[in-house]
This record gives sequence, C-alpha cells and structure tokens, in this order.
Amino acid sequence: MFIEFDYSKGFIKEHEIEIIKPQVDIAHQLLHDRKGPGSEFTGWLEWTETIDREELERIHTTAERIRQNADILLVIGIGGSYLGARAAMEALSHSFHNLLDKSARKAPQLIFVGNNMSPKYYSDVMDLLDGREIYINVISKSGTTTEPAVAFRHFRSYMEKRYGLEESSRRIIATTDRARGALKTLADKEGYETFTIPDDIGGRYSVMTAVGLLPLAAVGIDIVRMLEGVHAAAIEYSNPSLDENSCYQYAATRQILSRKGKSIEILVSYEPSLQYLGEWWKQLYGESEGKDGKGIFPASVSFTADLHSMGQLIQDGARNIFETTILVGSHDRDIVIKGDDDDLDGLNYLQGKTIGNVNRKAYEGTVLAHLEGGVPNLAITIPKLDEYSFGKLIYFFEKACAISGYIQGVNPFDQPGVEQYKRNMFRLLGKSGY
Ligand code: PA5
Repeated sequence: MFIEFDYSKGFIKEHEIEIIKPQVDIAHQLLHDRKGPGSEFTGWLEWTETIDREELERIHTTAERIRQNADILLVIGIGGSYLGARAAMEALSHSFHNLLDKSARKAPQLIFVGNNMSPKYYSDVMDLLDGREIYINVISKSGTTTEPAVAFRHFRSYMEKRYGLEESSRRIIATTDRARGALKTLADKEGYETFTIPDDIGGRYSVMTAVGLLPLAAVGIDIVRMLEGVHAAAIEYSNPSLDENSCYQYAATRQILSRKGKSIEILVSYEPSLQYLGEWWKQLYGESEGKDGKGIFPASVSFTADLHSMGQLIQDGARNIFETTILVGSHDRDIVIKGDDDDLDGLNYLQGKTIGNVNRKAYEGTVLAHLEGGVPNLAITIPKLDEYSFGKLIYFFEKACAISGYIQGVNPFDQPGVEQYKRNMFRLLGKSGY
C-alpha cells in the first residue's frame, strides 16, 4: 500500500469495526451512486478523468509566462480558494522559497493575500511591490467574498496605476466560476485570462483544480505528477471493502472514536512544512462535518515544537482527544550529527545519527507517552514528501471526509455556517440587500 494507515493503537475493538461496516457500505454507495446529500458537489471524485485537458495546457502556458516575467506572484483568495494551494506550496517547495536567490528559485516569490483584513498585513505587502515585477492570480468561486474582493480592488488599483490598464490586464489572472459572479463579470470586462472552478466542486475540495494548479505550477511544482497521485488514489480508494481500503478505515476509525467521546482530533506532523496541510485539513473536516449539532473538532499541532506547548494537555488533560500523525517515510536530504571532542553539551551519544533519526525517535517516544496517557493514536505514512504522495494524500483525506460525513449523518458538502457569517458581515458593513 502506498499510503499506510495504522489504527492498531487507536483503542479500537474488532467488533466495533464489524459493527460500522454496513454504515461504510451505505456511505460508499451514497457517494458513488451520487444519491447522498450534496451529491451535486462530488465532481472531485473522478476529477482526473473529467479534467479539461485544454485548460490544463493553458495552466502550463500561463504558469510559464508568470515564471518568466514575475518577481512576485500575489495569490488572492481565502478558505478553499487559498488553503490548499498554500498547503501544497509549503509542503513541496523549499522551506524558504521566498528567501532563496532568484537563480535558485527559478520562480517568482509567492505572497498570499486576501485571506485576512489586517491593515498591517496589507501595508507590509505593499512595501514589497515597488521595483519588482508583479502578477496577480485572484481566486474566488463566488466572486463576492469580502476579504479577497477587497484585496483585489486594492491590488488591482495598484497594478493599474503602475502598469496602465492594458498591461495590468495581461498580468491579472482570475480563477472563478464559469459564468456567474462579480469576479467573472469584471474579468470579462477587463479581458483577464480566466480559469474555471467547476460547478460541481466546492471550495474545500478544489485544490486540484485551477485553484491550486495555476499558482503551484507557477512556482515550479510538478502538477502533472500531483494529478497522477490523485488519479492513483481515486482508483485505490474506490474499493468498497473496509478491510482493504485504508481511506475508509480512517473514516470509520474516527467515527468509532467520536462515538466513544473522543470529540477532538489532532492532526500531528513532525514536518514544519506540513503545518499548512493541517490548516487545509481543518477546513476540510471542520466545514464538512461540523453541522447539525455534530462534528469532531479538528485541531493541528507541529511536533516537536508543540510538544513543548501542547504536549502537557495532550498527555494529561481532558481525555476527549485522539491524534492522527502524518509521517514521512524518507527524505532526500538529511544531516548527520557530528561528534565533539569535549562533549560539553553531552550530545555525543547522538554522534552518527541523523536529524531524521532523532525526529523518528521523538515520534516513537511521543506515541508511547500519549498511549500511556490514554490518547488513541492513528498514523498515516507517506513514503516521501513529493508531488505524487501529496496528490494521493489530498484525495485520501477528501474521500475519507466524505465517507466519514455520511457515516456521521451530515451533508459533507455544504457550509451553511460560513454563509451565515458572510451574510452578517455584509449587513453590518451596509451592503444593500442584506
Ligand atoms: O469552503 C468554502 O466554501 C469556503 O471556505 C470558501 O472556500 C471561502 O469562503 C471562499 O469562497 P470563494 O471562493 O467563493 O471566495
């Protein structure tokens, strides 16, 4: 199996697996027969078969144009129109991509905006722009979300002032709905190149569409290889058998644990570059399952750093949590710890070991401790942190989320709570019609 899932330390009994099996079967049928609630948003299920090849070609061409001409790519978006691209960027690029010399980067710096309303953040981004070549990719399915819309108005005005109308329209690329929304109208009027967010794919399931693919290709990530991972996952996880399908095992295990009062799931990783995967995952599971008075609260930590902050609570606090750790099998690069003649820091016992070895032992030691503390531990292992594994992992989580949501008895594809906040904000800001 390419992605290994281990629930042996999850305090799960065999009969609990047997009992949940029929519910997994029903969830599988609801999803694949497109008979479940929200089925009109399941276009991601066989995405690599239906993807528009002409648009994919255009993504490559446009990404190359951005790579050649931009020093900075501003990516404007929030929620599902932001987190997936950021997660992939952080996981698959150099940890210090934006700080690398341009000759090493061979791609523009990537700056995400429109995901907050902080005047400090806006102002600080402005300090970066003058004297650098700027491109913008504005991403919004609805085209009306306040944060990216305000950011776009601001940065578009900067572009128009600096480059003039015609040149700035060449440097702005919009990713939005095929036909509707303010952004689409604006893009058509100004003649921006546009990419489509398919009608049948909701924001938090959209990272493998142009939403993620264009900015990722622009910074040099191999999106074809990533889609190959998605494709392989779609085949592997179409198997309805709970015994053979690790994606369904993850979905079922979390529902079993939730019914035992484990109401918080903590996604753990030992790779700082997976921190934003945690943010993406929180949106996916929080928005998909947190409704109708139900839901597992998704949290995330980055170890070993957070062992020194959250470790105490996980070890010893209220026993309503379980952990899911993402492990990376191997890295292309590692560092060997050297010996020291004086050994004043007492670290010679680590001589010859690698940083990766120590990280692994930190994981093993932590799991032992947390198990002793009564915290069920699930583990997902990917062989490497590369495009193929990442694509597979994204699909693994998306499908597990849909199955888990159906087992839980909710529509995993709507987000009435988010809509409510948006409506209130419009009303409080005086938008007409709210
Ligand atoms: O999952 C969702 O639908 C939301 O989080 C959206 O992705 C987010 O609100 C951004 O919406 P839009 O792409 O319409 O600007």
